[in-house]
Amino acid sequence: MSGDRHRVQEFAYDNNQLMVESLRLREVAERFGTPLYVYSKRAIVYHCSHIESAFDGYPHLTCYAVKANSNRALMKIIAQEGLGADVGSKGELYLALAAGFLPAKISFSGVGKRDDEMEYALEKGIAAFNVESTEELEVLNGIAGRMGKRARILLRVNLDIDAGGHAYVSTSLKENKFGIGSEKAIGVLKWAQGLPHIDVGGLHSHIGSQIIQAKIFLSAARLLVNLVNSAREAGVPVEDLDFGGGYGVQYHGFISHPALPDDRPEGEDLSTALLIKAVLPILKEAGCRLSIQPGRSIAAHAGVLVCRVLYRKEGDAKTFVVVDGGMNDLIRPSLYHAYHQIVPLAVNEAPHETVDVVGPLCESGDFFAIDRTLPHLKRGDFVALMCAGAYGFVLSSNYNARPRPAEVLVDGETCTLIRGRETIEEL
Ligand code: LLP
Repeated sequence: MSGDRHRVQEFAYDNNQLMVESLRLREVAERFGTPLYVYSKRAIVYHCSHIESAFDGYPHLTCYAVKANSNRALMKIIAQEGLGADVGSKGELYLALAAGFLPAKISFSGVGKRDDEMEYALEKGIAAFNVESTEELEVLNGIAGRMGKRARILLRVNLDIDAGGHAYVSTSLKENKFGIGSEKAIGVLKWAQGLPHIDVGGLHSHIGSQIIQAKIFLSAARLLVNLVNSAREAGVPVEDLDFGGGYGVQYHGFISHPALPDDRPEGEDLSTALLIKAVLPILKEAGCRLSIQPGRSIAAHAGVLVCRVLYRKEGDAKTFVVVDGGMNDLIRPSLYHAYHQIVPLAVNEAPHETVDVVGPLCESGDFFAIDRTLPHLKRGDFVALMCAGAYGFVLSSNYNARPRPAEVLVDGETCTLIRGRETIEEL
C-alpha cells in the first residue's frame, strides 16, 4: 500500500526537538503542564480530505464517528470540512449540533438508545437511526407517532465476520450484541415497512475497529451488497447503505529519528483511502446512497499524549519508567494491549534500554508499554505517546481521583487550550 501519501508530518523532529506544526512540543507542554493531549489542526483537516479523496467524486456522505474524539473544537473543524456525524448518545448529538454538523448529515447508532434520546433526535430532525433490534424499532415507531414525526431507519446487520484484532472491538460476530443476523434482516425490513411512523431507508453494518486487512472489508461489502439485492427481490426498496467505520491506522513507526530505536514492524503500512478505494467498486454495485462512519482514521494521527517522567525505578526483574500520565488518561494499552509509540520530545545520544513505561495508579494494569526499547529516560524528561487522538481523552476517567488532562489545539504557530485541566475541586 505504499506510494500513497497517507501520513501527515505535522508531528516531526526538527533539530532533535519534536515539533507539532510550527511549535516545539516541549514549549507547549511546559506552558500547559502534563499529562496533556495536543492536537494538530492541519492533521485533522488532512485526514478528512484524505478520506474524501478516496471517493473520487462518487456521491456519498462521510459521517465522523464522534465517539472517537468529541472535543468541540475538533468537531467544529470536521464540520467545517463538510462532513456529517455519527453519534452514539444524546450527549454526542448535542455536541455535534453545537459544533455545526447539519441534522440532515447526522446518523444515530447504538444498541441501547433511550426513549429521551430518540425524542431528542427526532426533535432535531436527524437523517437516520441505525436500529439494532425489533423492540427498538417498535419503541421508535411509538415515539415518532406520539411526536407526529417519521423516523428514517437503516437496519444494522450482523454479518458474522471476524474482523481480527482485539475481541473488545470486534462487533460483527454472531455472539456480539450488535445488529440483526443477515438471515433475519429481510424479514425485519419487510415488517418495518408496515410500521406507520417508520421510513425504511436501508442497511447498515459496522464490523469492528482497527481493521487492517482490505480483504475483511471486501467480504463485508460483498455480503452487504448481496443482502441489498435479496431485499430488493423481496420487495424492499433499499436506498441507503451505510458501511460503518473501522478503517485501521498505523500505530507503529509513526515517527522516526536516526537516534531512536526502529519501530516499524513488517507489513504495517495502512491508508484509509486505499481501504475505501478497495471496497468502493463492490459498494457501488448496490446503487444506493452511500455513507461511511470513520472515527479513528480521522482523529488518531492528529493527537499525542505528552507525559513527564517522574521516576526511574530499578525493580528486581525490570526497569520501570514512571510517568505522570496513567491508564485514567489513556486506557488503550491497559484495556486492549494497544500499542502506542513512545518518543522523547528532545532526542539526544542516550543509550537504548528495555523498560516498562508505567503510570502512577494503583493497578499493575496501569502501563503504557511493556518491555519497550527506548532511549534512556530520566526524571523531568518529556515523552509523547503518539497516535493518541482517537479513543484517548474520551475514554479518560477520574480513577484514583485524578483530574482529567487538558487538551490543546495547535494551528501553525498558534496554540489554544480547547479543554482546561480539571481541578481537584471539580472532582
Ligand atoms: N460506527 C459505529 C457504529 C461504531 O460503533 C464505531 C466505533 C465507529 C463507527 C467508528 O469506528 P472507527 O472508524 O473509529 O474504528 N475504543 C476502541 C475502539 C472502539 C470503537 C467503537 N465503535 C479503541 O480504542 O480501539
